[in-house]
Amino acid sequence: MSGFGIYVHWPFCAAKCPYCDFNSHVRQQIDESGWIDAIVRELEWTAAQQGTERPIVETVFFGGGTPSLMQGASVGRTLDTIARLWRTANVVEVTLESNPASADATRFADYRAAGVNRLSLGVQALNDKDLKMLGRLHNVAEAKAALALAMRNFGRVSLDLIYARPEQTLADWRAELNEALAFGTDHLSLYQLTIEPATPFATLYKTGALKIPDEDRAAELFELTQEMTAAAGRPAYEISNHARPGSEARHNLLYWRYGSYAGVGPGAHGRLDLRGKRVATQTERLPERWRDAVARNGHGLIEQSDVPRADAAREHLLMNLRLAEGLDLAAYRARWGTMPDAQRMQSLIDDGLLTRDGDRLSATPRGRLLLNSVIAALAD
Ligand SMILES: C[S@@+](CC[C@H](N)C(=O)[O-])C[C@H]1O[C@@H](n2cnc3c(N)ncnc32)[C@H](O)[C@@H]1O
Ligand code: SF4
Repeated sequence: MSGFGIYVHWPFCAAKCPYCDFNSHVRQQIDESGWIDAIVRELEWTAAQQGTERPIVETVFFGGGTPSLMQGASVGRTLDTIARLWRTANVVEVTLESNPASADATRFADYRAAGVNRLSLGVQALNDKDLKMLGRLHNVAEAKAALALAMRNFGRVSLDLIYARPEQTLADWRAELNEALAFGTDHLSLYQLTIEPATPFATLYKTGALKIPDEDRAAELFELTQEMTAAAGRPAYEISNHARPGSEARHNLLYWRYGSYAGVGPGAHGRLDLRGKRVATQTERLPERWRDAVARNGHGLIEQSDVPRADAAREHLLMNLRLAEGLDLAAYRARWGTMPDAQRMQSLIDDGLLTRDGDRLSATPRGRLLLNSVIAALAD
């Protein structure tokens, strides 16, 4: 098994970025301690569900939205609640996502004192024109100052960049990625810009006002990213995630290795191993509806269902193949009593999309880029 982690969703942002379809909401004012009360209640409910099967917590992840809008005391109350309800590993990885526009020295020190030991910073771009185009509230100088502050306060820092932006050339991205790598963080999340339905970017894209690199150019940008990060000692360990070996995000690895995790807060997903079953959970997305449901029922779940074995096996395959380390076929067979079809596997190997080394099956970088069709070809 691959451990247990807890995901806490903080759904508020100072402004909504036009490309983003995360469960994030802008509110003039919030009663922060009331929201934390609800998170505490939902944690208590989750722990009660697990009963005597309560696993050891190895990772906690504050994601959003913008968790760096939370006060240190709120993060502290959440972590204290987790420590009260679960046994915890000797070293728990506690990550908090931060927006440079809300990075603050006192707050970072408070997070560290509360137990956060890893910070993930949404830098997105290293030129002011593109930051503006992305609707960000910070400029490059502010992003760099936030990064320096993060690196002074936390042993582990990751930065997010979005590439394959409108008009971005290979030379532009090479220069920007070089600069990002030179900051020296052990971890980088490098996402290709995706046009998400029902976002302002989707509207602009449909009318032709926003153009993004075509598939071939995007593939070139992806390959350049693989080469440069590998040469800088932070190769891809997942489609969009790069780290020095040993500095991978343990929480995210837990998803991709198909471990179990609880999700609390509005719109959070979970995958729990309960009474021999794989259980999928999902909570209300709208923050106020979630909070009212927690007040009524002790939880904001809109779904808690057993995942049929065949679906779980497929999810496991999909998650593992996102990783450079791939899938352990023997462990997979032991868990699910089934194997991917040998002929289909071989034909994807022949096409250069998968590789196999003994019991290890992994996607090539090109296969990872086309993962959905690889999985469809393998599992359907
Ligand atoms: C929850 S945000 C990170 C923290 C904070 N909210 C921020 O934006 O600074 C998660 C990350 O997802 C990425 N992201 C969101 N929407 C995206 C899109 N449409 N295409 C590519 N990356 C996206 C961004 O890099 C962002 O930093
Ligand atoms: S990218 Fe981050 S700051 Fe922007 S809307 Fe999404 S979650 Fe909020």
